[in-house]
Amino acid sequence: MDYKKNILVTGGAGFIGSHLVRRLVNNYPEYHIINFDALTYAGNLNNLKDLENADNYTFVKGDICELSDLEKVFSNFYITDIIHLAAESHVDRSISGPMAFVMTNVVGTVNLLNIAKEKWAGAKDRLFYHISTDEVYGSLGAEGLFSETTAYDPRSPYSSSKASSDHFVMAYHHTYGLPVKISNCSNNYGSHQFPEKLIPLMINNIVQEKDLPIYGKGDNIRDWLWVEDHAAAIDKIFHEGRLGETYNIGGLNEWTNIDLVHALISIVDHKLGRPEGSSKKLIKFVTDRAGHDKRYAIDASKLEKELGWTPSIQFEEGLEKTVDWYLNNREWTENIISGDYQEYYTNQYES
Ligand code: NAD
Ligand code: DAU
Repeated sequence: MDYKKNILVTGGAGFIGSHLVRRLVNNYPEYHIINFDALTYAGNLNNLKDLENADNYTFVKGDICELSDLEKVFSNFYITDIIHLAAESHVDRSISGPMAFVMTNVVGTVNLLNIAKEKWAGAKDRLFYHISTDEVYGSLGAEGLFSETTAYDPRSPYSSSKASSDHFVMAYHHTYGLPVKISNCSNNYGSHQFPEKLIPLMINNIVQEKDLPIYGKGDNIRDWLWVEDHAAAIDKIFHEGRLGETYNIGGLNEWTNIDLVHALISIVDHKLGRPEGSSKKLIKFVTDRAGHDKRYAIDASKLEKELGWTPSIQFEEGLEKTVDWYLNNREWTENIISGDYQEYYTNQYES
């Protein structure tokens, strides 16, 4: 079949990527979605089992750091667009091992830019859309919001690698005329998030009655966004956003880590029929993350005014849906934590 677009989604087997791929495959039968993913520790094809038989979906195992993998996917498919999510995404891992972040997030992104520039030379209606993070803007005090004009001030190896990749994307736009868009998003939550991240880690540990490690005093603030609202925003920006522009995506939903963990304890205890708040005893304040950014909060008014996007659900509702998903899909987490992840977790918190 001749598809209207052949969209290469990198990192489609990860958390956000799998939600985006599902949305594009189901909502756009006229598009062919090619999920290009190296299946690192964070990639998981179980996330997309429901799409295995979809006609307009193809999975390709490939690494953005390997030029031959990129050459192959471009010669096998007539790629018209790229939505680039593949990355090393966990801040703590970037502190203990920054080079993997330089390789995938910086070198891998530049590899992808180079092949797009080469293969799309002279072509019309192409798009390289880079998915980035609010962490490139650094850390806020008690007041203020990150807007698209906030100066970049990354503090962790992860955010520095994402900032660098953002700069390369814009450099390819200004220098070579590559048609690009970037969006910078706040913390996502929802189903299929790898259980090293705060929300799934806490849900799993509450269920297993393990310690709940809170970095520092638990007063750092994150702006939480429902992952399906992020996928909806990417869809809008992909179709309607202006070329060469950056869009911030956020939930207007700031929570301190400790308040969030209390909310999770209350939901999980209730659902498991435990006495209300009984898991509070599991909270353990541990050494703070090095260079821990204090507060993130996004001004998403550009996206709202230009493209009419707003978050669709309240945090309490999304959190409950998230807990339900993890409680109803225990084997998903268990498959992960019974593998290499167990060793990483043990080194991280229990030495
Ligand atoms: P994730 O860690 O869950 O998934 C990353 C995916 O990329 C995995 O499937 C992995 O196998 C794949 N990948 C890693 N290295 C690769 C390589 N060299 N070649 C091909 N594939 C590779 O990440 P996520 O949380 O879904 O984040 C996706 C993107 O969104 C990242 O670029 C991240 O920086 C950005 N982002 C995430 C959040 C968040 O809250 N999770 C917020 C803002 C932006
Ligand atoms: O802001 C967007 C970013 O959000 C994305 O770019 C990253 O890919 C994503 O991982 C996320 O980064 P954070 O560092 O904010 O997320 P994380 O879930 O690791 O931590 C959230 C907060 O919880 C942070 O303040 C650190 C704290 N924390 C985290 C863990 C894993 C704890 O207190 N204890 C923990 O065990």
